[in-house]
Amino acid sequence: MCGIISYIGKSNATQVLLNGLKRLEYRGYDSAGIAVNDGPHNSFVILKSVGRVETLAEIANQKKMQGSVGIGHTRWATHGEICEVNAHPHCSSDGKIILVHNGVIENYVPLKNFLLKEGFSFKSDTDSEVLCNLIAYHYGRLHALMPSKRFLESVRTSLLEVQGTYGIVALCKDCPQEMIGSKKSSPLVLGIHEDELFLASDVGAFAGHTKDAVFLDDNEIIHIQGKNFSIQDFSNVPISPNVETIDWDVNFTHLGHYSHYMQKEIFEQPAALDNTIRGRFSQDDSTAHLGGLRMSAHELRQVDRLLLLGCGTAYNACLVAENLIERYARIPVEVECASEFRYRNAPLEKNTLVFVVSQSGETIDTLAALRESQRKGFRTLAITNVVGSTIARESDGGIYQRSGPEIGVASTKAFTGQVCTLAMLALYLGRMRGMSFSEGCNFVSALKSLSTLASQVLDACDTPIKSLAEAYAHYEHFLFLGRQILYPIALEGALKLKELSYIHAEAYPAAELKHGPIALVDEKYPSLFLATDPLLLPKTIGNMMEVKARKGKVIAIGIEGVEIPSKAYDDIIYLPQMCEAILPIITVLPLQLFAYYVALERHCDVDKPRNLAKSVTVE
Ligand code: F6R
Repeated sequence: MCGIISYIGKSNATQVLLNGLKRLEYRGYDSAGIAVNDGPHNSFVILKSVGRVETLAEIANQKKMQGSVGIGHTRWATHGEICEVNAHPHCSSDGKIILVHNGVIENYVPLKNFLLKEGFSFKSDTDSEVLCNLIAYHYGRLHALMPSKRFLESVRTSLLEVQGTYGIVALCKDCPQEMIGSKKSSPLVLGIHEDELFLASDVGAFAGHTKDAVFLDDNEIIHIQGKNFSIQDFSNVPISPNVETIDWDVNFTHLGHYSHYMQKEIFEQPAALDNTIRGRFSQDDSTAHLGGLRMSAHELRQVDRLLLLGCGTAYNACLVAENLIERYARIPVEVECASEFRYRNAPLEKNTLVFVVSQSGETIDTLAALRESQRKGFRTLAITNVVGSTIARESDGGIYQRSGPEIGVASTKAFTGQVCTLAMLALYLGRMRGMSFSEGCNFVSALKSLSTLASQVLDACDTPIKSLAEAYAHYEHFLFLGRQILYPIALEGALKLKELSYIHAEAYPAAELKHGPIALVDEKYPSLFLATDPLLLPKTIGNMMEVKARKGKVIAIGIEGVEIPSKAYDDIIYLPQMCEAILPIITVLPLQLFAYYVALERHCDVDKPRNLAKSVTVE
């Protein structure tokens, strides 16, 4: 979703901002803009464009701007259509304040009405321009103060009047060597490098410049003056910065020999899964080491129920985990969409342990669910991929999935990393309860075999799945069917296909077919069956035959050595034999490849599917 990068230093701000915006592209956006101090009398020049950052770069490079202070933004439209006027940065109608904003100002209508009466005018339909004019209004009102103090005070007062979420960076015409930032439920991080400072929504935006960062907390205001900065809360109480060193790979945006980030990330899964489990097993006790949970074995044994919360793909990972944890640790598990949980006021039993799962660690619904559960006194742990993300910092403990940066908007390696992390949790909890030493050993070996198996399956499936995708890409509908632990994998396969190729895809537990969806089946409506669960295979084969009897095409994913009669399918992909605990992780791989190749066949932008954003920071 929207991204922010701002810079104050000695280099050419335009180039720093454009590079930062390029690094933020993966979040999903529809327009971009920058403001740089390059006008007459050190005033700010604002440039915007609809579409890709390259278009903005072409416009900016023609201007040959020399300024060394500026702010940049990628916008993912919420209030107002996709057009230049609605793109950020916004400038107040009196020309004093320039602002970039992530998030949503919920009370923008009454504020706008008030500002119109005060003589301010609006060019855009955005809530962000309202905040910009509000800061300018207070700036005008506080004329008795010196410019620097006046700027800070006007931002502080304005933010006390807005409801909603924000990550902002503001500039002021009267203080061209200053900038002010603040955040509420939308990330903002300071990057520090000698005489240069960066303020961004994402550490990746200043990757390559510095690894030293300060993550701002909600309700803090940072005031940058040249190469100095100070942080304070809304009562003007100073806050000492906690400088953290970020461990990142600056090359994460390089595609290497891959054509798309999604393809790269699919094939990175063997290495990513290795990373997730590395150093986390104890062979002697045949269990996992998950110290980040910050809970003793005694405390964990008191837990009567787990509640797992996430959105989209993370929610599907939670559904897989429900099955794994109930089966291996014998603890009842509930799974809920984080977006629903936060408003449902669900009655939770006293000894419930809550886990939120989020790749980005910034998803607003998941963050709100975390806060709601903490508000009610429940210990709330997190599984996240992004170190230092808001969810990671606000949770009471958790596990980093260590899948590495995921740039493709559709989640692939983050999903398998989440399931793998949750599988380790099932093992850890299981070994504290009824799971035997030998069961634990088998579980550990299965997880350790994941990387090799994933690599084999990806290599073996790539070409056959590509051919399958060519044959099926023209269909407009698809059913995905699986049972038990594979039902969430059917959901994930359908989600990937619809996100990437815009084909209508639905997922059901296979036995539900007869209770409704079979009415859809005809020669134009193919079904993909996950027939890798040996226990229920005869029943699944029966369901496949029912589809075939109605002229529906059937693709099956089966297991080598487990026979499926050839009349039950049109096409089949075989996976190697494996332990049931890792079946979901391996079974999803051909589905990811299928969605990828079908999308390519349909000429879709696989890395940036329409309307989607990587980090969903608005409700
Ligand atoms: C689907 C996808 C989304 C995310 C969802 C939650 O491919 O990527 O459904 O899984 O928006 O995102 P995180 O995990 O960052 O909270």
